[in-house]
Amino acid sequence: MDIFKKSINEINKFFKIDLRAESSIDEIFDVMHGIICYDSAYIFYVFPDSIKLEYTRNSKLKKQTYTKVDDINFNCKHKLIAELKIDNTIFAILVITRGTEFTKDETSVYSVVSDIISSLVKNIELNNIISLQVKAQQESITELNKAYKTIEKQNKKILKADKIKSDFIANISHELRTPLNSIIGFSDLLVSKCLGELTPRQLEYVNDIKVSGLHLLGMINEILDMSKIESGAMHLNRTIFSTKQAIDEVLNIIEPLALKKDIMVVRVYGDETINADYQKFQQILFNLLSNAIKYTPEKGTIKINCTRAGDELTLKIKDNGKGIDKKYQKTIFKKFEQGPDKGAINSTGLGLTITRELAALHGGKITLKSEEGKGAEFIVTLPC
Ligand SMILES: Nc1ncnc2c1ncn2[C@@H]1O[C@H](COP(=O)(O)OP(=O)(O)O)[C@@H](O)[C@H]1O
Ligand SMILES: [Mg+2]
Repeated sequence: MDIFKKSINEINKFFKIDLRAESSIDEIFDVMHGIICYDSAYIFYVFPDSIKLEYTRNSKLKKQTYTKVDDINFNCKHKLIAELKIDNTIFAILVITRGTEFTKDETSVYSVVSDIISSLVKNIELNNIISLQVKAQQESITELNKAYKTIEKQNKKILKADKIKSDFIANISHELRTPLNSIIGFSDLLVSKCLGELTPRQLEYVNDIKVSGLHLLGMINEILDMSKIESGAMHLNRTIFSTKQAIDEVLNIIEPLALKKDIMVVRVYGDETINADYQKFQQILFNLLSNAIKYTPEKGTIKINCTRAGDELTLKIKDNGKGIDKKYQKTIFKKFEQGPDKGAINSTGLGLTITRELAALHGGKITLKSEEGKGAEFIVTLPC
């Protein structure tokens, strides 16, 4: 058959080759053989100063680098050479060899065929690159997954350790609170003189024991409460109660601390009713009052104000102590943050964090008005 007719019949087979298949180059060689009969076929990739034999059909040549095509002994009398190009850049060389001479028509057809092969090989290479990239991406996804799983495992471990820590704190705090309550209780008894008169010195020392006990109890309670809040175990036990009674009780407990510093406590509150957690309401007050006493110098004044307007109760604790610099007014509400009082004795840096959480638990909030050197006012609003 006439070579042109044959090529017209065969040439469309090139376009049916699946370029993603591993056999795609073999199929190209097949289709080419159907158009121009050859003994061996070669595709060399071109590099700046060498060429490398990449694909072959019926070849005894080694797949290695060569300097140029002309230097290669193909062991065959006749050959056709075509350059494979992308946008005029030669990227490969296609060679076919045969014992008999190639006709002029075959040479013309070969140039057309090599153009088609050029674009096919280019696409095969692109496919290879894309599939390599996909593979690399999939591998990195697997790596990510692995890393994610490790992190997940670590997190579980951390959570477990955290729970052990919380349980430990809860236990130890409980064990510490029991003897402390007797220290405070018995010193109270001595101070009350039920057991007989005390010398002024004895009274002073017993008071010191009580005050230190109260400080310690406060700190233990703070640590215990923080661990309860963090583990989500802090729940409200709402009842309707009188605010006056709740405030008076707290003042009775805390007064020795104020007395010790000769701080005057001014009470500006009537009797309101509120639906809240009695013990937590007292705790809010206790925390704010003990701060006010702690951060107010001797002979200072603390004012407690409690009013109800509609469905909202406002509790204000104002002192004329050292006040709080603007730059600390937000951070002091964070866990363990103590503003300028870092490392202060009898301090955990937890009081305000707990107080804010307790207010939030009630659906309320706490705000602060203060200027350095001009005292501080903490305002708690709670829904009634
Ligand atoms: N009434 C106050 N006057 C001045 N500074 C205060 C007052 N209340 C709290 N602060 C500041 O806020 C910080 C955090 O308070 P808190 O959380 O109760 O922790 P702690 O009292 O254990 O230090 C305190 O260390 C102190 O610097
Ligand atoms: Mg405090």
